[in-house]
Amino acid sequence: MILKFLIWALLFGSVWVSAEPILPLHSVATDARKVALGRQLFFDTRLSRNNEVSCASCHQLTTHGADNTARSKGVAGRLGDVKAPTVYNSVFNIRQAWDGKAVDLKAQVTLPVENPKEFATSWPVLIATLNKDKAFLDAFTQVYKDGLSSDTISDAIAHYERSLITLNAPFDLWLQGKGSLSEQAQEGYRLFKYYGCINCHQGKNVGGNMFAKMGTFGDYFGDRGTPIEPADYGRYNVTGREADKFTFKVPGLRLAARQTFFFHDGSEHSLTGAINTMARYQLGRSLSQAELEAIAAFLESLVGQHQEMTQ
Ligand code: HEC
Ligand code: HEC
Repeated sequence: MILKFLIWALLFGSVWVSAEPILPLHSVATDARKVALGRQLFFDTRLSRNNEVSCASCHQLTTHGADNTARSKGVAGRLGDVKAPTVYNSVFNIRQAWDGKAVDLKAQVTLPVENPKEFATSWPVLIATLNKDKAFLDAFTQVYKDGLSSDTISDAIAHYERSLITLNAPFDLWLQGKGSLSEQAQEGYRLFKYYGCINCHQGKNVGGNMFAKMGTFGDYFGDRGTPIEPADYGRYNVTGREADKFTFKVPGLRLAARQTFFFHDGSEHSLTGAINTMARYQLGRSLSQAELEAIAAFLESLVGQHQEMTQ
């Protein structure tokens, strides 16, 4: 009898645990000395032309790891082509950028450096500038004996980004049986699964692990009311495959409730508006206001903490 129960518990207990499609966030291994150097570089405006902006100008860590605009301003106030995503929890993404053009965090660093709408510089110029700072160079060389290069600078920044994980979200604590969750948020989670948001937004980061077309059940771009821009082609710009047109990396939703603009084009500026658009264009559904609010409450419960955050 006891044996039977044990076998049952083993089978179904483990099935239940692994069947939950969202998992709690956890920290990942990283090197503290590299994290410290990476942090310095992340906030250093000398990485950009004329010392105008740093990574942190667009990825504001005190809020949600992005800025509160639809399009970020790079050097000389130039506006970017897409909305800045958060850097928090980005280590869990299968690829970086909306179209996945960077294979990992380290590869991503070159994009803002060379982008004329972001840092508008080059590695040789940037390295020459930093090499003049004797104190920084000494500290850097103690950790990276080969000194400053695109490889070592990118590595340090990527290490810092690996440390940007938001822990102890109310939802995670509830999943682990360590905290309670409001009825409304629980209902939101149920709807999130029931309607199929979970088919795309899943795993630790509630997204970030696959690509999907924007507008599965409707012509999102046709209805948007603004002309299609090159960035709207998404993953197609990287692969050239017809099937990848209008396809984007499914964004992680861990900090979605903190955002003020949504989607790659920053076209939506309310959370319930974004959920409504998703229901309509990705699932062919029309949700009630109460359902939208329940899902918003669930998304709010996904917001964890990090020491860089002030709220
Ligand atoms: C001028 C604003 C701006 C600056 C400066 C900037 N970024 Fe970004 N960042 C963006 C935008 C916009 C995107 C989206 C780009 C795309 O998808 O093509 C992005 C994407 C990213 C991503 C991918 C996140 C994801 O979920 O795909 C990471 C990581 C990142 N930036 C880190 C950095 C780092 C590190 C620096 C400094 C070396 C930096 N950014 C500088 C605006 C900026
Ligand atoms: C078919 C896959 C798919 C489904 C189903 C889906 N999404 Fe999305 N979601 C995406 C993609 C892809 C994007 C990015 C689209 C873009 O930027 O143009 C996105 C973006 C979002 C955003 C904006 C995040 C940001 O950083 O701007 C929110 C919020 C969101 N989804 C919530 C939901 C909710 C809630 C549901 C269920 C009602 C849902 N999604 C269903 C694929 C999906």
